[in-house]
Amino acid sequence: MILVTGSTGGLGSLILKGLNDIDDVKVVAGTRGGDGVAARRIDFDDPASLSEGFKDVDVLLFISAGYAEDDVVLDRHGAVLGAAAAAGVKHVVYTSLAASGERMTIALPHRWTEERLAKAPFDVTILRNGLYTEIPVGLAVAGAAAAAATGVFAAPFGEGRMSVVAKEDLADAAVRVAAESDRDLSTGTRSRHADRTYELEGPAAVGGDELAEALAASLGRPVEYRSASLSEARAGLQGTGLLPYQATHTISIFANIKAGWAEASHTDLRALLPAGPRPIRDAIAAAVQAGCRSQSLDAGAR
Ligand SMILES: NC(=O)c1ccc[n+]([C@@H]2O[C@H](COP(=O)([O-])OP(=O)(O)OC[C@H]3O[C@@H](n4cnc5c(N)ncnc54)[C@H](OP(=O)(O)O)[C@@H]3O)[C@@H](O)[C@H]2O)c1
Repeated sequence: MILVTGSTGGLGSLILKGLNDIDDVKVVAGTRGGDGVAARRIDFDDPASLSEGFKDVDVLLFISAGYAEDDVVLDRHGAVLGAAAAAGVKHVVYTSLAASGERMTIALPHRWTEERLAKAPFDVTILRNGLYTEIPVGLAVAGAAAAAATGVFAAPFGEGRMSVVAKEDLADAAVRVAAESDRDLSTGTRSRHADRTYELEGPAAVGGDELAEALAASLGRPVEYRSASLSEARAGLQGTGLLPYQATHTISIFANIKAGWAEASHTDLRALLPAGPRPIRDAIAAAVQAGCRSQSLDAGAR
């Protein structure tokens, strides 16, 4: 049996649906809101929910719970690993962060968790997820009103670009790894994915010029990219409602893009997705257009 944590989240719900669509796989949802019937209650901040919730689980699809200060995340992830070992889970599939994010501040809890997983008594597969397409889309949409008014999209990327991946591709890869591992275990075989780390980097990278182009197409006017400084970007985060640790992570991502370190050189995505990854640029253009439309900034509304 497979248990998926964070199953109401963006990634978890896609994974849960993908596993539910497979006939010969038994899957159970884990969520903080679980009632023990439709879904198990899995709250990383409540160790009792983990020892109860991990009972009879063969494959644990452990989705990181990263929206907190690092010390909170380390406590959560440590609790999950301890409870999985105590419950006799046979295989843990963990959603980590890709190599292109290595120098970003968000990497710390992921690499800490990977180190502990390497010493765990169960088999492990690390899915090193690339950055979601939502990140550049969110930045472009946040700059849409200014771009509509001035024809300039300012962002602190310099000449750098970031590799990004569709969440649906990450979900498809996770579904395959979890389902195949569960089937292998049911025949008394060790998972073919045991001890493997997959770099699930995006198949394409985007920078300021590509986002300005997407904005221009959505707004129906020329838009030029202007590289902003990190100081300007930091000032721009004031009053946006970001918590202090989120502002730290955001600036760190920008600095990595500017340094040229956010662009991937290798991905294992194609090995896990026979049909190949989804086209990134088209998905970004469509999402930017939807974001502009929601602000009545799109070409049709102007
Ligand atoms: N690669 C990237 O670009 C990127 C970007 C942002 C985040 N991430 C990481 O990837 C993870 C999954 O992304 P996502 O888009 O699915 O995020 P999401 O939509 O925010 O979902 C994350 C889920 O984690 C669960 N969760 C949060 N705190 C928890 C806790 N204390 N105990 C148990 N579960 C908890 C929640 O599920 P329930 O409500 O069902 O309990 C939540 O819905 C994030 O949590 C974050 O660590 C990656």
